[in-house]
Amino acid sequence: MAERYAVIGNPVAHSRSPEIHGLFARQTGIALEYVRLLAPLDRFAGTVEAFRAAGGKGANVTVPFKEEAARLANELSPRAGAAGAANLLRFDPGGVFADNTDGEGLVRDIRDNLGVPIAGRRVLLVGAGGAARGAIGPLLGERPACLTVVNRTAAKAQALAARFPGTSAAGFDELAGQRFDLVINATSASLAGDRLPLEGLALEGALAYDMMYGPSAAAFLGWASARGARISDGLGMLVEQAAESFFLWLGVRPRTAPVLQALRLAV
Ligand code: ATR
Repeated sequence: MAERYAVIGNPVAHSRSPEIHGLFARQTGIALEYVRLLAPLDRFAGTVEAFRAAGGKGANVTVPFKEEAARLANELSPRAGAAGAANLLRFDPGGVFADNTDGEGLVRDIRDNLGVPIAGRRVLLVGAGGAARGAIGPLLGERPACLTVVNRTAAKAQALAARFPGTSAAGFDELAGQRFDLVINATSASLAGDRLPLEGLALEGALAYDMMYGPSAAAFLGWASARGARISDGLGMLVEQAAESFFLWLGVRPRTAPVLQALRLAV
């Protein structure tokens, strides 16, 4: 019988994870069922427990439950602990294991799929919420020349920089004229229809990367492209975090390139 997995979130209707895991399953010949589960905002733990009781083997977790997922685990991976957030649960006989594959997915997409090294480069991370927190450890693991965190609420960027040695915090008003090789948007500003105040930033030849994909990434990437940056949305990151999840559940690492290509064609 096919093992059962799910992506749990609120909202979750637009998640492309079932499509991705369906393609991984076909590619690897592993039978699995992967569904979307909408958890009420106050019933994440109950939704996880019910899915587990019904035979679920594991789940991906998306907005807004990643912090709660980390708290619910019996065993937390070091990277999920550092991020304070988990996007993966695995139901082991001894309890619930939680991990965070988002940051690793981001690094793999930039470094391997886009062929842009992070090592020795100047990196600007925009945002200091859950998405940014999950990215810092894996980005630092690549040994960039510098990693600067900038955020609308400066105190949150400073708190993050204090928690991760090797990073520094800056205000938006301090960025004018500065040059970065890689600028990563980890904010949800586009969902509010807002522009990021990055006007002074020199972007020619840089890679501008948005962790979101599709229409949500368009505003930031359009702006960056007009300033001479190479651009990428976060669809590759989504596929890479999914591949890492698949590996953690099933011990098999699927090839991501054909899946990313199929997804791009399907939009
Ligand atoms: P996520 O888990 O997606 O990171 P989050 O924890 O709510 O969500 O964080 C959202 C991030 O987007 C924060 O860095 C937030 O900035 P603040 O800390 O100042 O709230 C940023 N953000 C959201 N709306 C924004 C906007 N309109 N302009 C700039 N930054 C914004």
